[in-house]
Amino acid sequence: MALLDDLTDLERRWRALAPPEASDAARAVYQRTRLWTSGNLPAVDVPYDPRREDHWAAAARIADYAAALPDAGTVIDIGPGDGWPSIPLAQAMPRARLVGVDPASRRTEVCMANASRHGVGNASFVTASADALPFADGAVDLVTAAASLEETPRPDAVFEEIARVLRPGGVLRASYQVWRLPAPEIETVALTEAVDGLLYVYARRSQTPARERRYLLLLPSDGAAAEVHRDALIASAEEPRAYGETLLRGGSPLGVPLLERLAPLALASMVVELRRWTTPWLVEALRAAGFRDVRATQHAGDLARAVARRLVASGDIDAVAGRFEVLTRALGEAAGTLPGEEMVTAIR
Ligand SMILES: C[S@@+](CC[C@H](N)C(=O)[O-])C[C@H]1O[C@@H](n2cnc3c(N)ncnc32)[C@H](O)[C@@H]1O
Repeated sequence: MALLDDLTDLERRWRALAPPEASDAARAVYQRTRLWTSGNLPAVDVPYDPRREDHWAAAARIADYAAALPDAGTVIDIGPGDGWPSIPLAQAMPRARLVGVDPASRRTEVCMANASRHGVGNASFVTASADALPFADGAVDLVTAAASLEETPRPDAVFEEIARVLRPGGVLRASYQVWRLPAPEIETVALTEAVDGLLYVYARRSQTPARERRYLLLLPSDGAAAEVHRDALIASAEEPRAYGETLLRGGSPLGVPLLERLAPLALASMVVELRRWTTPWLVEALRAAGFRDVRATQHAGDLARAVARRLVASGDIDAVAGRFEVLTRALGEAAGTLPGEEMVTAIR
């Protein structure tokens, strides 16, 4: 029997106290998030610094995506957030036409503002969902995605839609989260600020089936809710974490007791259910959607970070700093040829 068929105490109380409306991640989360990348796009807002591991990772990731399309063409970036990878990729591929597709209009607005702020003329953004792409059959040469395919409500439909818009020989190059939980099932809470208030988010994740159920309570950003929220935020900072969120343990004051205090003050309550996946599931699903060659590979960012860390530790980083561009390009191009996980290449 599927783990999520049994409700936890918190889910049961949630459904009684603040009956949630079913939603999708784009509307519930990404439409509410002010800045997804906390305001900085590597390489775009901040020039690359060869001494920074994260800049090696960002540069290699862009080179990896760019290597999938050596010449000009049409590139779609699924779920660009605030413009990653679409904006730096448009800069790296000046002869290509980049189109970011995101169903959260707030995200496409932020992307457009970022592109125009940096004078990137070959990237545009449309508000649409990846399961209904506004492109003709075979009109696209390359589809990129970073941590976005797993946020879509119907991934199988998304894979079929990507296969439809790609030309024969066209490429999907995507990063994805391999679903590997620290336990068969975990519960977390996150307290965050949104554009329209404060959010209390409870997530229940199970390994088998690979799935996440995310509940969101929208609260006013002033008054009693704000006070309880602030106190809970302080308490949560002391607890253990998973995926950057507070891990809930039996009897935690951040669970049912907090919900009971916040629910009467809530402006809205939502639940989002997301399928998660392991590499074999993803490879099989892409084949079933019509891709002829599907391979999971190394993550260019991880590879570049590991190399940068060694160069810093050995004291050789200054000696190679002048070769940053050549080295990160080579790492990005090599990653796609090495077997691994967290990135997938699928050829139409
Ligand atoms: C985890 S964020 C990743 C953002 C960006 N690619 C990055 O790496 O910083 C997931 C993105 O997927 C978008 N998304 C959610 N549902 C989607 C859908 N059905 N179609 C396309 N994008 C979607 C979200 O709005 C959000 O921008």
